[in-house]
Amino acid sequence: MNKVDHSFTIGNVKFNNTVLTASGTYGFGLEFAKIIDVSRLGGIATKGLSLEPKKGNPGERIYETPAGMLNSIGLENPGVDSFKKDYLPEAAKLGTKIIANISGSSLEEYGLMAESLESEKDVAALEVNISCPNVKAGGMAFGTDLKMVEKVTEIVKKNTTKPVIIKLSPNVTNIVDFAQAAQYSGADAVSLINTLMGMAIDINKRKPVLGNVMGGLSGPAVKPVALRMVYQVSQKAKIPVIGMGGISNPRDAIEFLLAGANAIMLGTINFREPQMPLDIIEGIEKYCLDNGFNSVQDLVGLAWKEEKHVKTNRCT
Ligand code: FUM
Repeated sequence: MNKVDHSFTIGNVKFNNTVLTASGTYGFGLEFAKIIDVSRLGGIATKGLSLEPKKGNPGERIYETPAGMLNSIGLENPGVDSFKKDYLPEAAKLGTKIIANISGSSLEEYGLMAESLESEKDVAALEVNISCPNVKAGGMAFGTDLKMVEKVTEIVKKNTTKPVIIKLSPNVTNIVDFAQAAQYSGADAVSLINTLMGMAIDINKRKPVLGNVMGGLSGPAVKPVALRMVYQVSQKAKIPVIGMGGISNPRDAIEFLLAGANAIMLGTINFREPQMPLDIIEGIEKYCLDNGFNSVQDLVGLAWKEEKHVKTNRCT
């Protein structure tokens, strides 16, 4: 029995833990369940699902960088029907919440994806991917256009009663505007950040390394950028914020909570240290106990709430 309350809620769904795993880094949780007790996680965001199966991009799709990783997978996935039939029944037995991450190449497809998952009782929430940098249609093209963010959010909300989490792109000038567009259009939460666009060049071939030329950068290199964006968004948002981007240890996770994230998702670290999500849960628990917090939610936003408090005191 935990001495600290680790839960948080989105809409009408209560998650038992603030530590979740990020889409695209955890499959459907089935392989990781052979290594760690995934039932201790707050949830698993599935690999991005599309209406039809996708083979993904050709050529090199992963490249390690000094403090992270570039990927240009191109949303390889079995498609929503196969997910429901072949993967969801097993994933549902893992004892944690399953968040279906959905991608569409048109507005209509986002609506159809939401509709298709509506009757799946084992899907706790939808995470709407409008930020994948590796596909030609949809993805980041939608997530960097405020009008499209509104339209995608609206059509998904129209086709589901499940909580809707909009996953934001960092490849914009002011991410707060995009979080607010999602919120005003009915989103129940936002998650941020997806990957930052980058590339690498093979100096012997004198060509880009990735088959798709550009890809998304993740891992420790992006953490300060992600933390800054969570800090900015959470001060304006009236809906829960899920923070992610290079979180690699308990200290990073606590920074995101203090910056204003109600929950966090772990991504690239899963490839290197698959037990880290559980180490992070324990690290958060210890931090709360050592500092007299009964609930993880009590940490949320203290970095700016305290700052505002101090400023108020100074003025009076
Ligand atoms: O290329 C990919 O599958 C990545 C997806 C994403 O970053 O959302």
